[in-house]
Amino acid sequence: MNRALCTFSLVLASSLVLLHAESAANDIVVDTCKKVSSRDLSYDFCVQAIRSDPKSRTADLRGLGLVALNLLERNVTSTGSYVQQLLKRKWDRFVRVRLSDCSELYSEAVLHTRESIEAYRAKRYPDVQNWLSMVDTAADTCESQFKEKPGASSPLTKQNGDAMQLGALGLNMVAIIAGS
Ligand SMILES: *[C@@H]1O[C@H](CO)[C@@H](O)[C@H](O)[C@H]1NC(C)=O
Repeated sequence: MNRALCTFSLVLASSLVLLHAESAANDIVVDTCKKVSSRDLSYDFCVQAIRSDPKSRTADLRGLGLVALNLLERNVTSTGSYVQQLLKRKWDRFVRVRLSDCSELYSEAVLHTRESIEAYRAKRYPDVQNWLSMVDTAADTCESQFKEKPGASSPLTKQNGDAMQLGALGLNMVAIIAGS
């Protein structure tokens, strides 16, 4: 084979390998999201969330579980700081009291998510599930307390919804991983 042809075939071969790796990686995200989506977690949310982390391109199922938990950690951490920012504004008493509660709920949620990541690394899956349920309850509690007064609305509906969906993502993935 002459040198140019040889180089060409090498380039072709390696791009085929890369292409294959890329589509295999995408398949596992698609497959996993099909398995874990439910009433509490949309398929589209799952795919978008997981693909937003570049590590998902090369991760296996267990790696994707960690990707999901890390996403949750970043999410509840930034929502925690967002609530802090909101508290600097002027609110009526009803909203202010609830925002302060949410602020506490989210600082705990950050700690609980970190515990869940440690438990995940140690393959203590029932512990992961306990910690994640607590995160889910925190977001749910934050959201529902705004409904205590007719006409009041939560300034955190999107953030609580994201935390609940990411929590459900973690929980459902752990259920598959623990059972496989
Ligand atoms: C939380 O995660 C969702 C899904 O990945 C994303 O759309 C949203 O921007 C994140 N929110 C924050 C505050 O990071």
